[in-house]
Amino acid sequence: MATINDNYLKLKAGYLFPEIARRVNEFAKTHPDAPMIRLGIGDVTEPLPEACRTAMIRAVEDMGDRSKFKGYGPEQGYEWLREAIARHDFQARGCNIDASEIFVSDGSKCDCGNILDIFGDNNTIAVTDPVYPVYVDTNVMAGHTGEANDKGEYEGLVYLPITAANDFTAQIPTQKVDLVYLCFPNNPTGAVATKEHLTAWVDYAKAHGSIIFFDAAYEAYITDPTLPHSIYEIEGARDCAIEFRSFSKNAGFTGTRCALTVVPKTLTAKAADGSDVELWKLWNRRQSTKFNGVSYIVQRGAEAVYSSEGQAQIEALIGFYLENAKIIREQLTAAGLKVYGGVNAPYVWVQTPNGLSSWDFFDKLLHNCNVVGTPGSGFGAAGEGYFRISAFNSRANVEEAMKRITETF
Ligand code: MLT
Repeated sequence: MATINDNYLKLKAGYLFPEIARRVNEFAKTHPDAPMIRLGIGDVTEPLPEACRTAMIRAVEDMGDRSKFKGYGPEQGYEWLREAIARHDFQARGCNIDASEIFVSDGSKCDCGNILDIFGDNNTIAVTDPVYPVYVDTNVMAGHTGEANDKGEYEGLVYLPITAANDFTAQIPTQKVDLVYLCFPNNPTGAVATKEHLTAWVDYAKAHGSIIFFDAAYEAYITDPTLPHSIYEIEGARDCAIEFRSFSKNAGFTGTRCALTVVPKTLTAKAADGSDVELWKLWNRRQSTKFNGVSYIVQRGAEAVYSSEGQAQIEALIGFYLENAKIIREQLTAAGLKVYGGVNAPYVWVQTPNGLSSWDFFDKLLHNCNVVGTPGSGFGAAGEGYFRISAFNSRANVEEAMKRITETF
């Protein structure tokens, strides 16, 4: 008889966003005419930049031309895209990252989970609380945790609260952890990490032989010039950090799929026999075996992000969503709600009014305002009493949603 991976049975109800969709669909069944506005999942709404579309159309034509046709591409991504990424995203910011250390992929979510393939099962793992649920759930699936308690905290994980009480900074743990997930600008709180804060993390990681998984999916939303966009802006990070980036939130590629992971060649971890092994080699081996690369057409679209037209167009796109975030922040604040984030990030983190629980506030917004957000408790125990509102939507929808919410609360 075939058996299953029993670790899946430890997972809480459902992945957060499908669970929200389930509740919304249930409501929609009995209220088919409700004018729903979705500010829940951080999915973009605005069209792809013209520079990307033009490049992709040209790439489609290449595929119809025998002399330019492409079959399997390099599993790591085409050299021209990796070079553009290395130059613009890293070297231009003073980060010593080479194109060969960049692995192009079809999503940061996949990479954040897949990276566990190259690590052992006995690492102590730390996550912030609240946290992007993928970091936790992929560790549960891999058997790196025990069961969850009533608050949804898994036995075996080290939770680092990021709350108003500590000004939304991920506190350096007092104990030794081997792997730690950091996401800045933060999903879900919209908090940011300063250079000093990340320096403290890099120092900690180097002192303990830990690896930082740095999720920089929202770096394009940083408006404060003093804030680091990459962990590699911090001295020593090449020896202790893997960085995840995405074209989803800067260029609207959520449906197109393109991302990247940086694994510096100087990064090592221990084998069972105590020897140091280069993680780059393992990730390269993993990708070459389990992945066949992102389509040529999509990679050409991603490359166009770095053209001068592309840069101007993504700047406008990011500016548009940041203006949405400003509207959300200002209107909710004016209505007397306590809000955080939304300045260098597309997420606004709202304290629920009148002591409502996160899910009660979710239900109230759904039923009374027909607005969908994300309950903070879905991101972890420390998210209870908070609610995430995403700035990814049309201006008209954001304004209408704010009108409904501020009239209700
Ligand atoms: C979110 O809403 O947190 C994001 O859509 C997650 C993601 O990018 O996968």
